[in-house]
Amino acid sequence: MVSRVIPVDPFDLVIFGGTGDLARRKILPGLFRRFCAGQMPEGSQIIGAARSEMDDSEYREMVSDAVAEFGGGRTCEAGTLEAFLATVSYVTTDAKGDGGWVDLNGKMREDRVRAFYFSVGPSLFGDLAERLHRFGLATPESRIVVEKPFGHDLETAKALNATLAQHFDETQIYRIDHYLGKETVQNLMAVRFGNMLFEPLWNAQYVDHIQITVAETVGVGGRGAYYDHSGAMRDMVQNHLMQLLCLIAMEPPAKFDPNAVRDEKLKVIRALEPVDWHHIVRGQYGADENGQSYREDVEDPKSRTESFIAMKCHISNWRWAGTPFYLRTGKRLKARASEIAVVFKDAPHSIFGADAGRHRNVLAIRLQPNEGMTLDVTIKEPGPGGMRLLDVPLDMSFAEALGPDAEEATEAYERLIMDVIRGNQTLFMRGDEVEAAWAWTDPLIEGWQARNDVPKQYDPGSSGPEDALMLMHRDGRKWREVKA
Ligand SMILES: NC(=O)c1ccc[n+]([C@@H]2O[C@H](COP(=O)([O-])OP(=O)(O)OC[C@H]3O[C@@H](n4cnc5c(N)ncnc54)[C@H](OP(=O)(O)O)[C@@H]3O)[C@@H](O)[C@H]2O)c1
Repeated sequence: MVSRVIPVDPFDLVIFGGTGDLARRKILPGLFRRFCAGQMPEGSQIIGAARSEMDDSEYREMVSDAVAEFGGGRTCEAGTLEAFLATVSYVTTDAKGDGGWVDLNGKMREDRVRAFYFSVGPSLFGDLAERLHRFGLATPESRIVVEKPFGHDLETAKALNATLAQHFDETQIYRIDHYLGKETVQNLMAVRFGNMLFEPLWNAQYVDHIQITVAETVGVGGRGAYYDHSGAMRDMVQNHLMQLLCLIAMEPPAKFDPNAVRDEKLKVIRALEPVDWHHIVRGQYGADENGQSYREDVEDPKSRTESFIAMKCHISNWRWAGTPFYLRTGKRLKARASEIAVVFKDAPHSIFGADAGRHRNVLAIRLQPNEGMTLDVTIKEPGPGGMRLLDVPLDMSFAEALGPDAEEATEAYERLIMDVIRGNQTLFMRGDEVEAAWAWTDPLIEGWQARNDVPKQYDPGSSGPEDALMLMHRDGRKWREVKA
């Protein structure tokens, strides 16, 4: 299979927060990979901007180290890193002050696509947007890329949208959710809307339920202060899981066009019913063998923030009425695994009798690790023992199926940055989508706060609290095993 690189126009990309963790771990190594793939056209430049005092050569050294550490061992032709570094420069810039902005403006070229990546804390978004205008850097075609978290609740998200809207049109704002850049997530749309096989079955008549799991093995790490103010609901469900839910549940858009896709996603969010609090299980990881618990990690012995959440949701529309969507995400679980499983209903009548047991087709889409898809199909168990049935997977790993091209396709950030340069907003959240997601999330959070709900403890390395298993068991269903 031949790797296809869709060309983009030469660009000037400014990374505010160019010295930060996200820039070093994802953005800069991702750009290097695109450079290696020949997708960064000649004449393009990357400018790091932050308060730290640094000159170009010091910044290039930092970029070089970041590529070495986080570039995934990518090897390119000799001299490629040097050529990439030649496109990189740095301007000391303060989002809250006026220092550096004139110099930054002096580096911008008239005939280039301009993109400004806000890889800084959200409290700086407004300052950056305002100064980009005041110092004349923003043109009508400029784009800004805004990192999560996009607001803390509906009110703050609306305020943020309003602030950005003072300086930029919605068509210029790229709210990034890196889950949408994952190959498998886009494949979800290809599988649904590119095949005849699944779509006729993709509804409440044939689908028993859908499970979405995003499990992490890590704890809150150094993000304790931020996370304890946020929790799994705000940090994961309101954005990543909600986006996955939208893609799995939305109606086919008339075309693969940014607003057509986002209109359909928005309809799903608006059709989500409020969740009965009996259908929400919040958890917090307890102490591991070193005595390190969530509360230790966030340094608050009384914290009631959830590091795990499971819930049963319903979508009130013709397609999905009656089919539950079970969502689950958490930290310090037994494996790092993200998966969407579409569990189909039983055949209406088993000609093999009750002894054959219950067999169901399950389409599982793995987002990580080992991106791919599995379809469980029921077959006869081989051997002379009569008609015994067995579920076996038709298993497709993208890495195996696509070979070296799969390697090219793994990093979400680099794809999304190229979409920004290309001006394609399909995989970015629109302002009204974000607000609708908060409008659904806020009352659930307010509900458990009003009830003084205490999260259930779970053992690090487990599948989460027992109550989460019960959430499914009560419905005669079972979570799929969390496994890497
Ligand atoms: N790290 C991740 O994996 C990750 C994942 C998803 C989303 N995000 C989001 O991405 C954003 C950046 O996260 P991060 O982890 O990279 O944070 P970080 O490591 O704390 O980096 C923050 C960056 O902002 C710069 N900065 C701070 N104040 C500034 C100011 N007044 N003017 C100009 N630059 C300033 C810092 O450099 P100086 O101190 O030199 O100014 C640094 O480069 C946050 O919104 C975060 O929520 C991060």
